[in-house]
Amino acid sequence: MSTSVTEVMRGLPRDVYIRHERHGDTVHYSLPEAVARELTALQVRPGDRVLEVGTGSGWTGALLAGLAGPDGRVISVDISEELAGRAERIHRDRGVENVSCHVGDGLAGFSEAGLLDRVVVWCTPPRVPDALVGQVVDGGRMVVCLPIAELPFLTVVATITLAGGQPAVQAITSGGYVQSRTTPSDEVVVPHRWVDAMTDGPRPSWVSIAWRDRDTSDGIGARTVLDRLLHPGHTVTYGRGDVDWNSWNAFSATLNDPALSTADLRGRMRAIGHSTPDSAAMLQVDGTIVADAEGSPSLTILRTWLELWERAGRPAADRLTPALVRNDDPGCAGWDLRVSW
Ligand SMILES: C[S@@+](CC[C@H](N)C(=O)[O-])C[C@H]1O[C@@H](n2cnc3c(N)ncnc32)[C@H](O)[C@@H]1O
Repeated sequence: MSTSVTEVMRGLPRDVYIRHERHGDTVHYSLPEAVARELTALQVRPGDRVLEVGTGSGWTGALLAGLAGPDGRVISVDISEELAGRAERIHRDRGVENVSCHVGDGLAGFSEAGLLDRVVVWCTPPRVPDALVGQVVDGGRMVVCLPIAELPFLTVVATITLAGGQPAVQAITSGGYVQSRTTPSDEVVVPHRWVDAMTDGPRPSWVSIAWRDRDTSDGIGARTVLDRLLHPGHTVTYGRGDVDWNSWNAFSATLNDPALSTADLRGRMRAIGHSTPDSAAMLQVDGTIVADAEGSPSLTILRTWLELWERAGRPAADRLTPALVRNDDPGCAGWDLRVSW
């Protein structure tokens, strides 16, 4: 952590914004370790113009305001009118003048802010949006959490610099933020993008399959996979020591396999593995493997994937090779982040 980031964080406990006597509490905040890491990577300089996407509690906007100093300017955008208004009121109460909060979809950029030196995104867009890239000056810097496959939670945090209008990834590290949305929501348990089947109830289970394009229109394949994982015919301990989840999470994306799938079982057991319409096998975060049957074809493939991971030495995300790939999806044109080993 740089000295200035340490100093601003030491001088401003997050409770000042998360729990507020008059403006109430909020569940929309980022973890201090992640905030420290992202702000260090962002390298905000005095006088910078900074856009933050995802105002949340307002805490990170106030930290950015401290880093940019009185000559700098922080523009903070949240999809939630309630959150943007709440944060704005706390900033005004505290006499913080160099940050302003606005309502909108931050992935569309914020044209009134003009050209920006720094952009930080505290939620996970589907990709690096062109609208944000186009607003950053040459030599500017973005820190943004990005998917590395079209599966929830398979994300890393990327530091991106701009040269000649082109984004280039400087570094990636393990990390995850709630998915960006186009409407406000307090839902933080079930991702809203790329969930292909889920159960009801207070502790919902869900599954995400990279082969969703080949599933039936009513998602029978995804529902069958989820049912197989919730009622596995075969459960076995992986048996090669504690699972380094961050490493498996990132490495699995390097397989770039359409059968890659992820799930959260009963709201507490993350799982990543292989599935097809006929079989399913996943390694869970607690080190057990669940599969439809002992002889499951998915289990055989999962074991070959795990062997590749072990042979690679369970690399941390920052050892993978990142690449930005064009995606002109009209919903969010920009750059997909993909990783290889
Ligand atoms: C984890 S919170 C950010 C917390 C903030 N960094 C803090 O520590 O107080 C993520 C925020 O992103 C906002 N958000 C989600 N999608 C968005 C979008 N498309 N544009 C702007 N904000 C968005 C959510 O409303 C939520 O407030």
